[in-house]
This record gives sequence, C-alpha cells and structure tokens, in this order.
Amino acid sequence: MSIEVIKLGEPLLAEVRGIDISRPLDQATRDAVNKAFLDHSVLVFRDRELKPAEMVAFEAVFGKPMIHVTKRYRHPEIDELIVMTNLNADGEVDEFESRRGLGWHSDMCYLDQPAKATMLHPLELPEKGGDTLFANMYLAYEEMPEALKSKLQGLRGTFRFGGRSKDVQNRLNPADRDKPLIDHPVVRRHPDTGRESIFVNPIHTVGILGMPDDEAVDLLDEVYAWCGQDRFQASHQWRMGDTLVWDNRCTWHSATGDNPLRQRRLFLRGNVADSVH
Ligand code: SIN
Repeated sequence: MSIEVIKLGEPLLAEVRGIDISRPLDQATRDAVNKAFLDHSVLVFRDRELKPAEMVAFEAVFGKPMIHVTKRYRHPEIDELIVMTNLNADGEVDEFESRRGLGWHSDMCYLDQPAKATMLHPLELPEKGGDTLFANMYLAYEEMPEALKSKLQGLRGTFRFGGRSKDVQNRLNPADRDKPLIDHPVVRRHPDTGRESIFVNPIHTVGILGMPDDEAVDLLDEVYAWCGQDRFQASHQWRMGDTLVWDNRCTWHSATGDNPLRQRRLFLRGNVADSVH
C-alpha cells in the first residue's frame, strides 16, 4: 500500500490518503503512518466510517490503547473508548456537556503518564461548525522570546483533572474530583523527536511547583498569551468518515463550540499510552 501525505495546515495537520484504516495494516504502512504522525503532529484520514472495535485496532498502530480515568463517558462495550457527547443523561443537548473540550489543553496531562495520542471519530455532527482547533507547541516554544524561555528553564507545572476551575471540579463525578496534583516539566522534550515544546496548558495546569500561586498564574498567562497566537494554529472542519489522531506531547487542542445550539455532536474518542517517560 502506498500512502500519500498532504500537508493541510502550515504549523501542523496533514491528510493521509491511500489506506483503508478499517483493515489491518502491514508494517511498512504502519511505519509510514507513524512517521507522518511525528512530522505533522495531527493527521486526518477521510471517508471511512469505523466500528468501535476497528477504531481501537487502528489506535494500536500508534501504541497501546488506554482506558480513560473517568467512567462517566465510557463506551458501553469497549472500555478503551469514551463517547464525547453534548447530550445529557436524558439524551438532550445540554449546555454544560456542550462546553466539553472547550479551551486549549492536551489530553490526560494530569496523569503521571500522560496520553501519547488521541483519536476522534464522529458519530453525529451538527449541520455546520463544531470544528476542532490545534496549536503547535514545538513552534510556540522554538519561536518564544529568549527572555520568556529563560524564565521557564527547570520549572515543573502542576496538573489536575478538571484544572483550576471550581465550577468544573464541582460538576465532575465525586470520584473524579480533587485528584492529587501531578507535575511535569513546563517545557517537555518529546521522547520520539527530541524536540522541546510547551507542555502546560490553560485547562489542566493548576500552577508551578514551588512558586507562589499569583506569580505562577502571571507567568502561565504570559506563556498562554504567546502560545495562543493564530500563527501556531490550524483548524479541522469535520466530515462524517473522518478519523483524526493527534500527538498530545507537542500540541494543544480545543473544541470551538461554534455549532448551532441544540444540534447533536457526538464522537468516539480513544487515547494511546506513551511508552517512554
Ligand atoms: C477533545 O477535547 O478531546 C475534543 C475536542 C472537540 O470536541 O472538538
């Protein structure tokens, strides 16, 4: 099978053509897909609806599928998948659930072993909007002014599921609330590419280890203002049959929440574990 990789966004994001991701892939194809993943950080595969088991099998091309910490959205049959939904327990489009995924973050950074990759595959999409944004944290760090870079050397960010927001903490399942803080370097070296990138993010980072809270908030705000610039970003407009996979070790992502209210938006989502820490 010969694959074609088409760059879609200047800072990150490429489309991979020429493979059927619902079927087992030979080693050469797996290697080519993994190379494209490291080169472009976010990949889209088009025009193939996946059954849950097919999606988990495709995730395994990137590493070991992981089970998400919260049981609330777990897929009824496959533990390694969750359902990203804007519906509440009564099946109605819900304002709080519609805000899930909003704000820049990387997935499972609040764990001792954060997720390597996330895969998203739509089950239902709104008529328009509902795009997902991505930002390249390699570039954000590489182009950062030296004065700001030097303030970050050796610092470790603290992370928690649900982040700083009291409102979000209160809405989590009791078992998911107030988890212990986990720390990771503010600037993290990618285990596969060796490049450095910003690893803190506005949603899940709580502070900086050993730094007074107000000082940490000011420094993190400065980092986020830099990293949130449009020139580091690319947007993905969803179509049914898309499968997206992104590298959480060097990117941020955010839902846009710009789909018309009261329209259903549902995805299957899976995470892949990192093998190197
Ligand atoms: C996510 O944050 O994992 C999903 C982003 C989205 O819903 O667009």
